[in-house]
Amino acid sequence: MPLDQYYLLGRSGLRVSRLALGTMNFGTGGFHAAYGKTEDEVRPIFRKYLDEGGNFLDTADFYTAGESETILGRLVTEANVRERVVLTTKFTNSVDPGDPNAGGNGRKHLVRALEASLRRLGTDYVDLFLLHTWDRLTPVEEVVHTLDDLVRAGKIRYAGLSDVPAWYAARAQSIAEAHSLTPMINLQLPYSLVQREIETEHVPMGRHLGLGVTAWSPLAGGFLTGKYRDGGAGRLSDAQTWTERDWQLLKPLEEVAGKLGVTMAQVAINWVATQPGIASAIVGASSAEQLGKSMAALDFEIPLELRAQLDEASAVPPASVYRMFTAQYQNWIVTPDTKVGDKPDGYAPAVRNW
Ligand SMILES: NC(=O)c1ccc[n+]([C@@H]2O[C@H](COP(=O)([O-])OP(=O)(O)OC[C@H]3O[C@@H](n4cnc5c(N)ncnc54)[C@H](OP(=O)(O)O)[C@@H]3O)[C@@H](O)[C@H]2O)c1
Repeated sequence: MPLDQYYLLGRSGLRVSRLALGTMNFGTGGFHAAYGKTEDEVRPIFRKYLDEGGNFLDTADFYTAGESETILGRLVTEANVRERVVLTTKFTNSVDPGDPNAGGNGRKHLVRALEASLRRLGTDYVDLFLLHTWDRLTPVEEVVHTLDDLVRAGKIRYAGLSDVPAWYAARAQSIAEAHSLTPMINLQLPYSLVQREIETEHVPMGRHLGLGVTAWSPLAGGFLTGKYRDGGAGRLSDAQTWTERDWQLLKPLEEVAGKLGVTMAQVAINWVATQPGIASAIVGASSAEQLGKSMAALDFEIPLELRAQLDEASAVPPASVYRMFTAQYQNWIVTPDTKVGDKPDGYAPAVRNW
């Protein structure tokens, strides 16, 4: 089975699959309705993921206006896998536009959001509860304390953050450590061959402070499959405009896929899932067949020279102060002939082959 190898998420004892199943398209309501699917359409996707050994499920209260959680909860119950899966959901976005406390990361909304998610999911706890987006206002101490309270109350097992500045996550983790509160074990962020910005701050921060990074939209919403070259710009076109550089990247990606005899999507997913500091890639799928192809992305290795080709074509040139951390300047601090470096690290497999 492609997904029956589990890794520890961040500095925790939680074992998760290397590909998580994204359920942003489960349901047909709200903001994500344009590409949403009915319960009958997503059931085969969900069953395929479980059948291949997957255990890591991702949703949010905001997805399809709550329908994603409702459908996912029903599918989990139907398959009788509540204890087996790692159920992740998120809070932040408003559930009542006129009410200032019906959104954001303050304690009042956070607790209300969790209660509503539990009702929709049909469960009395979630395994991983994530702040969805930094609201730029709520003190980080309030968030960390509230998440800790929810762990102590038995309503969530683990806590984490999505879409926050790296300094904010570092501060949350430092406060948790200093006061023996529940640590953050996960950072969920956009990451793909066309969105590598998190490598500058977030990934090294996560590796140092014990937050496993889960990568959302590893195919950039479908852009990296190559299917949009002759037509539209892909599903994320409303949130992001693709640059000439992004379009250019499709060429080496296609070349690498051709040499390996796999699809561009499989190379793109493999690349994300095997990057340093990445605990799991969160894949979305519009059919079980498509998900099967995505899962097969873990069945091969990208040889070093082909990986270097992709790395070079997709690299984000360091700007401003970050240039000071490249070899050009770092060689002034420790000269290359002194052989000083970090020990190799990575995620210890949760299941050993003995
Ligand atoms: N925390 C956050 O802020 C945040 C934001 C966005 C997403 N997420 C999470 O990340 C998950 C994944 O996001 P995403 O759906 O944007 O991921 P994605 O993997 O980048 O894109 C998925 C889309 O690509 C196409 N696709 C998938 N597998 C394919 C394959 N093997 N071959 C060809 N095309 C394929 C499908 O679209 P078509 O069939 O329509 O082409 C599918 O809907 C979401 O469900 C959600 O759980 C989190």
